[in-house]
Amino acid sequence: MNWVDSFAPLTAEQARIMREDFQSQGKKLVFTNGCFDLLHAGHVRYLQQARELGDALIVGLNSDESVRKLKGPTRPVNSELDRAEVLSALRAVDGVVIFHDKRATGLIDAIQPHVYAKGGDYTPESLDPDELAALQRAGTQIQILSLVPGRSTTSILQRVQSPLPSAGVLEEKKPLLLAVLGSGKGSNLRAILSAIDSGVLSAQVVVAISDLPDSPFLQTARAAGVPAHYLHPGDHPRKFDLKAQYELVEMLRKAGADLVVLAGFMRILKSPVFEAFEGRIVNIHPSLLPSHKGATAVRDALVAGDEQTGCTVHLVTPEIDSGRILAQAHVPIQPGDDEESLHARIQEQEHRLLPQVLAHWHQLQAHQIGVVSTSC
Ligand code: GRF
Repeated sequence: MNWVDSFAPLTAEQARIMREDFQSQGKKLVFTNGCFDLLHAGHVRYLQQARELGDALIVGLNSDESVRKLKGPTRPVNSELDRAEVLSALRAVDGVVIFHDKRATGLIDAIQPHVYAKGGDYTPESLDPDELAALQRAGTQIQILSLVPGRSTTSILQRVQSPLPSAGVLEEKKPLLLAVLGSGKGSNLRAILSAIDSGVLSAQVVVAISDLPDSPFLQTARAAGVPAHYLHPGDHPRKFDLKAQYELVEMLRKAGADLVVLAGFMRILKSPVFEAFEGRIVNIHPSLLPSHKGATAVRDALVAGDEQTGCTVHLVTPEIDSGRILAQAHVPIQPGDDEESLHARIQEQEHRLLPQVLAHWHQLQAHQIGVVSTSC
């Protein structure tokens, strides 16, 4: 038998009939769509999650012409029929329909699926407005699924296209295993995850830990599929008791972290953590250290009437905000700046600087790392 010739994707009409059958049997048809060019573990896990939302999963696959419109002339790498055949072979996928428009609106209108699944970099508000309208017309339930960090077609292509290392360093370095600690919004965690995702940073966030049970930081981690834990810091509102510090060490060791990143973590670490991770803890601080140490650094720069401030990535030592500086970015203070506007501009630099330092760390290893000095 010639297997390739025997493969045929579903037509939209066949998918619509399947949906009608399901409707009469009280079953749910799930639909998702995408390019699925170079299939990776992130796709497989995502499709598995989508399949679990109902009784069968249909994938709308962008045709070659439609991928080119979305991603440029060098994509797709694999033809639409090959992509459809590989997808169809997955346990989670019950059928693939190729569509030719940039968006899946027409296909959604035709199939009217019971459930629509989309990857976690979207929110219901940021879905394509036409697709969203089609889903609303069909009364489809929308489910946003978490993405698997560090896996993307773009990062695979970047790895394939990067020049070969020179002789003697052919062995690929293993990704940096990061533990990220935070108590705030989690925007630096997001910046790290997106640098990993785009292939700029070869790392994996193996655990995210917060001293606040429902912090946006933990929600960000969970949405990205990162193991996320709340650590009870003790009963004092600001202190971090010794028992909790030992628990933290245990969590970090269990996760196998190479490096601990403090990204807005508001408790002070003590000796159990320093002994276990000496020289392997970094912090991001919103000032040009050594100026304005402490928790009110942005306000302090404004009150001092400074012309510029910025952010610093530094090694963490028992003395607060005093360890060796690894990198700084400068941010001019503008007339009319208040704490919020200034902090927002500092954070733009943080989101660039922190992943850059981590990538540098990965390349050079801790003992060799030099100071990266940048300005905006
Ligand atoms: C950052 O501005 C960092 O410099 C400070 O805390 C803030 C954390 O922000 N230490 P986010 O939670 O990463 O958004």
